[in-house]
Amino acid sequence: KKGNYDHFMQKEIHEQPHSLTTTMRGRLRDGSVVLGGLKDNLKTIRHSRRIIFVGCGTSYNAALAARPFLEELSGIPVTMELASDLLDRQGPIYREDTAVFVSQSGETADTLLALEYALKSGALCVGITNTVGSTLARKTHCGVHINAGCEIGVASTKAYTSQIVVITMMALAIGADSLSTQSRRESIINTLPGLPEKVSEVLKLDGEMKDLAESLMEMQSLLVFGRGYNYATALEGALKVKEVALMHSEGMLAGEMKHGPLALVDETLPIIVIATRDACFSQQQSVIQQLYARNGRLIVMCSKGDAASVCPGGSCRTIEVPRVADCLQPVINIIPLQLLAYHLTVLRGFDVDQPRNLAKSVTTQ
Ligand code: UD1
Ligand code: F6R
Repeated sequence: KKGNYDHFMQKEIHEQPHSLTTTMRGRLRDGSVVLGGLKDNLKTIRHSRRIIFVGCGTSYNAALAARPFLEELSGIPVTMELASDLLDRQGPIYREDTAVFVSQSGETADTLLALEYALKSGALCVGITNTVGSTLARKTHCGVHINAGCEIGVASTKAYTSQIVVITMMALAIGADSLSTQSRRESIINTLPGLPEKVSEVLKLDGEMKDLAESLMEMQSLLVFGRGYNYATALEGALKVKEVALMHSEGMLAGEMKHGPLALVDETLPIIVIATRDACFSQQQSVIQQLYARNGRLIVMCSKGDAASVCPGGSCRTIEVPRVADCLQPVINIIPLQLLAYHLTVLRGFDVDQPRNLAKSVTTQ
């Protein structure tokens, strides 16, 4: 079943041009987005006072990646909840809210308990899942299947990118009645069909990521700095590295760097800075300058053609990725980090598909 691949995680990473194609199949029609599972509820969602995303782990990160675009197109405040924390706090949810539950398996205990809790409040409960017939799909009022195909590796990879694309399409559907965002929506809808091709292009970095993994395999720790659309990329990249390569890694909001993390920086600690082109680019350039000034061991992820200009003194290692629309860039940017986590795991001699202590679906609290 693994075909020409050594591990399911590796197969699923390389499958992403295909899984993203099936995620979008039949859902882009005549320049608009059609999500069969949501169309009867779009009006209710548009009138809600708040959209709350609920999930765990990678599914939470996917929602975080798509959040800025959903806020932009809906004009509705979008808040984020880790399922366990929502339950611990018994945070208030109202009937005017739309609660969106994101889960690859559709069987995660914390997410399902949070759903039970939200259902009692009278809020519209929407599911986003990869599993037809799962408890999440059955108990939500409506939702969208991500159709990424069965994911076997414990570390979620192709489900993450498909979740981002589905939430992005959901934002396009929710915003479809707004004239002021029409040209923005059209430009994104027009680029969606070309996304799998760009994913194939970034997958060619496999060999380069293996080399990078060789240079990092003995490290104790790895930091990843991102912001804006790619704050989620930093969290998700670090999650992959810690869960499969069993290396300490933290994803951090670059805007928080001066409020503590900067104290960690020295010439030994490797730091990946995500600085692809978007509205946050100049802020990330100044983050790079500040890390450079403290002799940080920098690895910069940048847009194609920027390698020579992003590094002060041309001193740091770079990962050049193809540029896509800002809200879709997280789909591209996570892929080198998935490859890096994969190669680090193989080089360090750990089990790729069954990381110690972890289960594919966390059905107990
Ligand atoms: C559906 C069919 C698909 C068919 C297409 C043709 C299913 C599962 N999907 O896809 O095979 O090709 O019509 O038009 O039969 N739902 C939830 N909660 C969730 C996820 C989904 O309630 O977490 C509900 C949706 O609201 C919808 C149904 O499940 O009523 C199917 O959702 P989805 O597969 O996303 O719908 P389509 O893309 O229209
Ligand atoms: C990370 C990972 C976990 C899951 C989390 C939620 O690679 O797989 O963090 O994302 O357990 O699982 P689902 O999406 O099935 O609810």
